[in-house]
Amino acid sequence: MAEATSAPAVTVRRGTVDDIPAFRALGEAVVPPTYGPIDAAYAQRMLDEWWVAEVFEKSLARNTHLVAERDGQLVALSSFGRLSRSYRDFPYVTGDREVMWKLYVHPEHQGLGIGSRLLSEVETLVEGDELWLEVVDGNDHAYDFYLAHGFEEVHRVGDRAWPDDIWLRKRLRDGSR
Ligand SMILES: CC(C)(COP(=O)(O)OP(=O)(O)OC[C@H]1O[C@@H](n2cnc3c(N)ncnc32)[C@H](O)[C@@H]1OP(=O)(O)O)[C@@H](O)C(=O)NCCC(=O)NCCS
Repeated sequence: MAEATSAPAVTVRRGTVDDIPAFRALGEAVVPPTYGPIDAAYAQRMLDEWWVAEVFEKSLARNTHLVAERDGQLVALSSFGRLSRSYRDFPYVTGDREVMWKLYVHPEHQGLGIGSRLLSEVETLVEGDELWLEVVDGNDHAYDFYLAHGFEEVHRVGDRAWPDDIWLRKRLRDGSR
């Protein structure tokens, strides 16, 4: 009998401070190949400023983190929360919004449905009827992935020194205005 091809055994759970070393290892694996071709200095800045223990501690205190594991290895991370609870400033945004701050799948585990699964779990957990996220201009793979999953581009934010950010939004539930 033919061997059944089964989906990878992936488990999803909440992330905690105990995962911070694994978050960092994931960042070292996924950030350079994702952003290096766009702007190598920006990729390094991301790792140095945002993928560090102190920032994860702050983020874990304010946002929800979901991790995906295969065979005990943390292979993907997503985080989300309200913009008003962020430790960053967004002077160009009026009002509040629910934002997915991170969705990162280890390069060796991409294309297996893990990103889609985490996104769908985030969509069921967020409050409100919209989910927003920023994608870096030039990250075409992620941009196309999000458009294929129902997001639309709303606006772009540039600060000249670094690549633009593109804000995408998905309307989650029928019955919203
Ligand atoms: C973008 C990313 C999160 C997608 O996660 P993934 O696990 O690789 O994607 P999946 O395997 O879940 O993709 C599932 C579906 O999306 C489709 N898809 C994936 N990438 C796509 C793309 N670039 N364009 C169109 N469709 C795409 C797949 O064909 C698949 O469709 P199917 O279910 O109908 O077969 C992942 O590739 C990643 O971590 N990239 C690097 C980091 C990054 O850029 N993160 C986003 C920061 S904003």
